[in-house]
Amino acid sequence: MIDVLTETPVQEPQRIRGLEMPWNRVMGSIEGPASAAKALGPWHPQEFMAECVETVPEAGGMMTFVFRRCDGAPLAFRAGQYVNIAFPVNGEDLEPVDRSYSLSSSPTEPWTFNVTVKRDPGGLVSPWVHENVRPGTVLDMLGPVGAFHLPDADRRARYLFLAAGAGITPIMSMLRTIHSLPGTADVVVLYHGAEAGGFAFHRELAYIASVDSRIKVFYALGDRGRPEDWEGFTGRLTAAMIDEVAPDANGRQVYSCGPEGYLNTATELLKNVGVDDTSIYMEFFSGDRQTLLEYQAELALAADIAEEIADEIAESAEDYFESQPAAFGIYEPGYDEDGTLQATGLPLEAAAPASAEAAGSATEAATPDASSFDTVGTGSLTLSFMRTGINVRIDPEEHILEVAQRAGVRIGANCKEGMCGSCKVVKLSGEIDMNHQGGIRKREIDAGKFLPCCSTARTDMVIDA
Ligand code: FES
Repeated sequence: MIDVLTETPVQEPQRIRGLEMPWNRVMGSIEGPASAAKALGPWHPQEFMAECVETVPEAGGMMTFVFRRCDGAPLAFRAGQYVNIAFPVNGEDLEPVDRSYSLSSSPTEPWTFNVTVKRDPGGLVSPWVHENVRPGTVLDMLGPVGAFHLPDADRRARYLFLAAGAGITPIMSMLRTIHSLPGTADVVVLYHGAEAGGFAFHRELAYIASVDSRIKVFYALGDRGRPEDWEGFTGRLTAAMIDEVAPDANGRQVYSCGPEGYLNTATELLKNVGVDDTSIYMEFFSGDRQTLLEYQAELALAADIAEEIADEIAESAEDYFESQPAAFGIYEPGYDEDGTLQATGLPLEAAAPASAEAAGSATEAATPDASSFDTVGTGSLTLSFMRTGINVRIDPEEHILEVAQRAGVRIGANCKEGMCGSCKVVKLSGEIDMNHQGGIRKREIDAGKFLPCCSTARTDMVIDA
């Protein structure tokens, strides 16, 4: 009988040089048979329906949802990208809530795709997703989107992946992709987690690292206590830690994903160890970020709430939000020559249409009167923000989001490039030029919505924000 457990020395595998995505060749091919495979190549974001076919609990309060497209097509994407999903959290008949979630599966297995969601107990969407999305659930999706992804071809393919918490999701997609492809990649992963039992995908990571000599995985436990048998690193990310796992960090492309504080630290440290800016790719793990922005907005507006209550609200947000309270700074008024803007907010009930349909049918005649609002800024056009109760003068070439945030208008934003859809608001009147990259659906545009991060005003405008 053959003893399968006895290790016999084996030669290193012979591999092709670097890394090349399977679609890289067929996309450029003019041959008939190869052109059929073009369906598997990444394309521009599109809207599609997808059905959940499996749920897989992961460590660290995460859950993987396996989907397949309802039209039977494969989902073509690049490892690291995400999809924007509409969740009917308030019921099928009400406006769904959009969230962006990273794909955790590999695009080399495109017939099904995985989305991994971390449950944020204080969030609006992620608990609903964990409790309600089951095999058979069909959801409206848009994607793939995102510029944080592996290249289509890379002759060197030397990477350092830095992941913290739920930031492992897109990194997992990259690792699975590299593991599934031939090539001479050299990958080092440094994965930070809050507790020893909370590293999602750790079994698969251990397996990949054990069978794929191109991939090394290191773990670190933040600042919290560590069990006695813990063999990984402890403490926050440091230059010494990076140096230890990847002494040649400055020869690698670095992909980093995690909370904003972690990414800020990583940016600094990578500079210190000599990694050039052009070799660093960062992704703020968006997950339920919109919820965090909502919390932040509530806190900013809660001037009259006792401090303890405000603290309670803050505590229910995720750790990383608490550690980075001023990270977004989007509600701070930027104009003070006309006095502080904090007192100018209208009650939220003053918000115009409750539904997109209502917004879509809003006419010029139904537009509320903004003439009593304070006016700030200079420029030839006026934007009236009805919820905030402020008029902002702008120049036609200025992006609306930037101006709005400077004026303390409450609009959440993630990518700021028209991809993620998180800044979506309703336009009550006026004309815009929008240059989006898939972050908004056609039906939403028809319903009067737009993405202020990638839009400029053509005329005076009235905005529901
Ligand atoms: S911030 Fe992402 S689409 Fe506007």
